[in-house]
Amino acid sequence: MSDRPGEANVRMSAFSAEAMKRAAARAALESVTHGMRLGLGSGSTAAHFVDLLGARVREGLEVICVPTSERTRAQAESLGISLSTLDETPQLDLTVDGADEFDAALRLIKGGGGALLREKIVAAASTRMFVIADATKEVRTLGAFPLPVEIDRFGARSTMLHIERVARGLGLIGPLTMRDAEPGERFITDGGHYIVDCAFGAIDDADALAARLSAIPGVVDHGLFIGLATAIFIAGAEGVRILG
Ligand code: 5RP
Repeated sequence: MSDRPGEANVRMSAFSAEAMKRAAARAALESVTHGMRLGLGSGSTAAHFVDLLGARVREGLEVICVPTSERTRAQAESLGISLSTLDETPQLDLTVDGADEFDAALRLIKGGGGALLREKIVAAASTRMFVIADATKEVRTLGAFPLPVEIDRFGARSTMLHIERVARGLGLIGPLTMRDAEPGERFITDGGHYIVDCAFGAIDDADALAARLSAIPGVVDHGLFIGLATAIFIAGAEGVRILG
């Protein structure tokens, strides 16, 4: 279990990291059955799941899927996976997604790829949410990974100050950085918002922070996923272990 971002990643070769992500994705795929309505997550681990699902679809598996990002939509479309929207299919059986961090209580930090809003909406519309991750994402206390917060573009600086004030009230102090897609160019989410990455360090009371961030005008949503994940498939050197 790591307390610092990337610490274990540095020790892990790129190949084995990808192999572990794929192993977690393959294990989660075993729960997918004919006729399921699925939410498709975003990020490199979720991309392994979509890729493996595509192979099953080519073999005849019938599922209908709602993607959580335009990137995932493009990948799924290219693999011939049948897609829908939450307007057409408002209730899903299962969402499979990655995470930037998770703890023993199945709480997550998500949004490293900037898709947290749609990921959260899709997860909340699903009966179950399976998280797929390699073991380096497991932490004792959330917060080593800077918490992404999606904010409206209007009044972004004021909203950042508000976030800082709220965090300080919980004893959380750390730099807030507006995310750039590349130097000088702001990252814009699929929903047209900014992302602020909040490097608070250890978040002792994630529930309180989640509630207070949600109450800030201008905060569209935040990357704390609490009470959404129903199982976490953790791939490590010894195989895949399931939490939850
Ligand atoms: C995107 C996410 C991703 O699930 C998260 O960033 C993990 O990505 P990866 O599997 O590439 O490590 O939350 O918004």
